[in-house]
Amino acid sequence: MRFLHFLWIFLTPFLQILLGNEIFLVSSQCLDDQKSLLLQLKGSFQYDSTLSNKLARWNQNRTECCNWDGVTCDLSGHVIALELDNQTISSGIENASALFRLQYLERLNLAYNKFNVSIPVGIGNLTNLKYLNLSNAGFVGQIPMILSRLTRLITLDLSTLFPDFDQPLKLENPNLSHFIENSTELRELYLDGVDLSAQGTEWCQSLSSYLPNLTVLSLRTCRISGPVDESLSNLHFLSIIHLDQNNLSTTVPEYFANFSNLISLTLSSCNLRGTFPERIFQVPVLESLDLSNNELLLGSIPIFLPNGSLRRIILSYTNFSGSLPDTISDLQNLSRFELSNCNFSGPIPSTMANLTNLAYLDLSFNNFTGSIPHFQRSKKLTHLDLSRNGLTGLLSRAHFEGLSELVYINLGDNSLNGTLPAYIFELPSLQQLFLNSNQFVGQVDEFRNASSSLLDTVDLRNNHLNGSIPKSTFEIGRLKVLSLSSNFFRGSCPSTSLGG
Ligand SMILES: *[C@@H]1O[C@H](CO)[C@@H](O)[C@H](O)[C@H]1NC(C)=O
Ligand SMILES: *[C@@H]1O[C@H](CO)[C@@H](O)[C@H](O)[C@H]1NC(C)=O
Ligand SMILES: *[C@@H]1O[C@H](CO)[C@@H](O)[C@H](O)[C@H]1NC(C)=O
Ligand SMILES: *[C@@H]1O[C@H](CO)[C@@H](O)[C@H](O)[C@H]1NC(C)=O
Ligand SMILES: *[C@@H]1O[C@H](CO)[C@@H](O)[C@H](O)[C@H]1NC(C)=O
Ligand SMILES: *[C@@H]1O[C@H](CO)[C@@H](O)[C@H](O)[C@H]1NC(C)=O
Ligand SMILES: *[C@@H]1O[C@H](CO)[C@@H](O)[C@H](O)[C@H]1NC(C)=O
Ligand SMILES: *[C@@H]1O[C@H](CO)[C@@H](O)[C@H](O)[C@H]1NC(C)=O
Ligand SMILES: *[C@@H]1O[C@H](CO)[C@@H](O)[C@H](O)[C@H]1NC(C)=O
Ligand SMILES: *[C@@H]1O[C@H](CO)[C@@H](O)[C@H](O)[C@H]1NC(C)=O
Ligand SMILES: *[C@@H]1O[C@H](CO)[C@@H](O)[C@H](O)[C@H]1NC(C)=O
Ligand SMILES: *[C@@H]1O[C@H](CO)[C@@H](O)[C@H](O)[C@H]1NC(C)=O
Repeated sequence: MRFLHFLWIFLTPFLQILLGNEIFLVSSQCLDDQKSLLLQLKGSFQYDSTLSNKLARWNQNRTECCNWDGVTCDLSGHVIALELDNQTISSGIENASALFRLQYLERLNLAYNKFNVSIPVGIGNLTNLKYLNLSNAGFVGQIPMILSRLTRLITLDLSTLFPDFDQPLKLENPNLSHFIENSTELRELYLDGVDLSAQGTEWCQSLSSYLPNLTVLSLRTCRISGPVDESLSNLHFLSIIHLDQNNLSTTVPEYFANFSNLISLTLSSCNLRGTFPERIFQVPVLESLDLSNNELLLGSIPIFLPNGSLRRIILSYTNFSGSLPDTISDLQNLSRFELSNCNFSGPIPSTMANLTNLAYLDLSFNNFTGSIPHFQRSKKLTHLDLSRNGLTGLLSRAHFEGLSELVYINLGDNSLNGTLPAYIFELPSLQQLFLNSNQFVGQVDEFRNASSSLLDTVDLRNNHLNGSIPKSTFEIGRLKVLSLSSNFFRGSCPSTSLGG
């Protein structure tokens, strides 16, 4: 025993180096006082024991409390991490004095519970915390001043997806500036859904003066206003900027392109205006860009440099225009590309055929012309919407061959012509197919037995299809909607036809 103890002491520095001194995954002997605090804590919480998969299993009879689910100890047996997220806890935090006496805690996660009270001041006693996650936990009202005593925090997550309409979490008094003034070690700040309106336009100055090493700034739906101040450019390490759903009414600063660590920039529904700086598309590590729902935002897509990292580009409902560069194929990781309801024109580059990771493509409601590229190499494609453009040409088997994950195809409202390749009806995952309002000709009857069994909606309205109405064609599978009106069919409607 003594030898083992010696060994622990000897190994500790190495483990600390190995594990980054963040969290010890090494189990150790539970201390009695720590165990008793944990049991008191369990006793003070109300939760649904049938749905809680951690708390409910804490048990007096299992002596080794450091092995309890959600509990981590350091080598001396002090509880240093408590992960009680999603445990259906509905009350008892106000009186959970045992929690506030777990003095060694460095990590506390109470996310996704249902507290419906303000954040208890006792948490301010846990001054060793480096990680505090109270996201989506039901906390309401003013965030208490005493939390600003947690000056060792590196990560703070107080975000809420669906803030309480009447009493959202807010930073009014103290305001953001006052609240963070001593939290200089913060690197990750998530305050989505927290009302920061009291901060006026000074939020940028506050962040840049107090949190120089910030890497994550997530302030969605925070009621902050623009402009985005120049001072934010001092936060050189920013890698995630999420400011969606704030009425910023401003332009996107050019200096965002200088954040060399920028991985994710999302600014949807921010009432942005002016011209979006093209250089931001070229930040080498950028993976995700969402500017959707900014109808006054002008911009165009520049040429891409080889080996770009972009995975997600979402520009729907903006005033972006121009054509797509052939270099789009350099974005080998591109998986989601949404440009619906913009003003793009010109051809869809045939080089898109080389995007092997493409899963979701929506170019609808633009002015694209020319033919549709072949997508056979985009094996992961599930959603293809090219509707409401000026696309022309024929559809062939080669357009879709081997796309076994394709669920949705919408090519409606274009000027496509020729006959329909039977192959399109054979795609094994296809559920919805819209080919309406084109100039397709020929007989639908040709692909009598081709209908995919998952297909539930087929819209062929407003084409030049003829022949007899294909009674048998679509009677197999799950077809619920078959629209054939405004064609040149003869005979009566098939029984599956619900849409004309
Ligand atoms: C603990 O063990 C005792 C005796 O072994 C038993 O009576 C009791 O039900 C156990 N308690 C729990 C919570 O399992
Ligand atoms: C919470 O746990 C339930 C099952 O116990 C699970 O279905 C749900 O996805 C979890 N929610 C979150 C946000 O982790
Ligand atoms: C908390 O404890 C106080 C007194 O100790 C008591 O009056 C109050 O009802 C308790 N609150 C809850 C929610 O249990
Ligand atoms: C939260 O508590 C308030 C009273 O403080 C109550 O009006 C409201 O209905 C509660 N909300 C939920 C979701 O329980
Ligand atoms: C916080 O710590 C102080 C002493 O450091 C103590 O007096 C107080 O009761 C503690 N608060 C809570 C809620 O545990
Ligand atoms: C907070 O916890 C939730 C639930 O476990 C998790 O989804 C979220 O990513 C956490 N936030 C941070 C910043 O780690
Ligand atoms: C920050 O620290 C200073 C100096 O210790 C102190 O005077 C001030 O009250 C602290 N601010 C907050 C918000 O706690
Ligand atoms: C920021 O990080 C640098 C090195 O990464 C460190 O020297 C500096 O002390 C940090 N600043 C603060 C305020 O934590
Ligand atoms: C934030 O609060 C501090 C201290 O109460 C105050 O001096 C400052 O003016 C406030 N800032 C704003 C923008 O209201
Ligand atoms: C696809 O990439 C290959 C090389 O990887 C290249 O030779 C070919 O021209 C590209 N095709 C298109 C349509 O960009
Ligand atoms: C498409 O382009 C044509 C001519 O280039 C123009 O007349 C038309 O208004 C454009 N349509 C849209 C929706 O931008
Ligand atoms: C399809 O339309 C193009 C013009 O867009 C025309 O040149 C071609 O002849 C048409 N093909 C068929 C089969 O109708």
